[in-house]
Amino acid sequence: MSAKITAIRGMNDLVPGPSSVWAQVEQTLIATAASFGFSEIRTPVIEKTGLFSRAIGEVTDVVEKEMYTFKDRDGDLLSLRPEGTAGCVRACLEDGLIHNQEQRLWYRGPMFRHERPQKGRYRQFHQFGIEVFGLTGPDIDAEIISFSAMLWKKLGLTDHVRLELNSLGSSEERARYRDSLVAFLEKYRSELDEDSQRRMYTNPLRVLDTKDAHVGEILKEAPRLSDFFGSETRAHFDTLKELLTGMSIGYTLNDRLVRGLDYYNLTVFEWVTEALGSQGTVCGGGRYDGLVEQLGGQPTPAVGCAVGLERLVLLLEALDLVKPAPSVDVMVCSMGDQPAREAQYLANRLRMELPETRFMLHCGGGKMKKQMAHADKVNARLALILGDDEVAGHQVTVKNLSSGEQTTVPESEIAAFIKQHI
Ligand code: HAM
Repeated sequence: MSAKITAIRGMNDLVPGPSSVWAQVEQTLIATAASFGFSEIRTPVIEKTGLFSRAIGEVTDVVEKEMYTFKDRDGDLLSLRPEGTAGCVRACLEDGLIHNQEQRLWYRGPMFRHERPQKGRYRQFHQFGIEVFGLTGPDIDAEIISFSAMLWKKLGLTDHVRLELNSLGSSEERARYRDSLVAFLEKYRSELDEDSQRRMYTNPLRVLDTKDAHVGEILKEAPRLSDFFGSETRAHFDTLKELLTGMSIGYTLNDRLVRGLDYYNLTVFEWVTEALGSQGTVCGGGRYDGLVEQLGGQPTPAVGCAVGLERLVLLLEALDLVKPAPSVDVMVCSMGDQPAREAQYLANRLRMELPETRFMLHCGGGKMKKQMAHADKVNARLALILGDDEVAGHQVTVKNLSSGEQTTVPESEIAAFIKQHI
């Protein structure tokens, strides 16, 4: 036997069972996005590397260390997308979707980051994201957050996730804050961990996100970004908080929440859970009013967020809130050659007549006991049985697989019978 080829580390298969859980969760996400008036957009999983370095920022973990980047056969430098916002903006500009018009979009799909794999952190993972273009007010920020809150409600997670909220102010406010933060950090330079020392000049706000306990202590005395806010930023943030309270969406203010991508301004937020260990952020997002212009478009305000689907499913499983759904309603069985043909034709007719019902044709013949075991294995609710007698009499024997009860139904009435019993 030749050696098996294995999957790439941190990249997972989704097999029957779990795949049906994913399908249920994705259906809820899609239906919720539709209920907020969002439309789907699909963009390629590979883009020019420059798109991500320009959008996400050169001095971020994602661009510095985590992108899957390669030269293709034409010598173009390309990357697998590490997130969905940059590609979405690029597509909107290229397809003229945000020129003088508002746009509310959703997407889902695989993203790729070369991180150290662990529970809840993978190298291929999936996001469900929403993005809104063309609106400046806190009302749409609140709408985005209420979309995520609605998801938790529909999935039964409201009591298991917490909203962390912050404002990053405008770029001018941040620039002034940066100077004051760097001056503060310089005083403690020798005490900072290596990462923070490096970040201090390249991307000082990221120092606020440190995992180092000692640096965390030092930061307690650091200047606060909110002290640099002007009246517009304050009003935006205050109205957002008021709207959230009005919708009974609780939040915790966290002025160290800076997010790992550089395009944000004003509102940023994350939904976190304690139930997943260190990878507890199930959704993150915020406003990114400068990004469209930065990628070559007209100045266009924008806001959005993305849910990590692996983490969401892990959380639902940990709380026992989802289970795989059976994929078959009716197993169609037969005994003998002619009945087997008739069973196949019957299954096809019924699929046309009852498009919502799932029929599986038992293939390959065999004893009735084996066929019933097959029906049980796929959790079918009814078995239709055709033998010579049924074919001759234009009838179908129907077995209810939970009660064991058997009935004979005229073939002309079988669709109505199934409809009534499924
Ligand atoms: P992000 O916070 O980098 O934001 O990712 C969003 C979510 O994706 C995270 O909260 C997490 O649940 C999930 N996630 C990220 N990395 C991994 C990983 N390695 N393994 C498993 N799950 C992961 C963004 O990507 C922004 N584009 C969100 C956004 C949209 N902001 C505005 N619009």
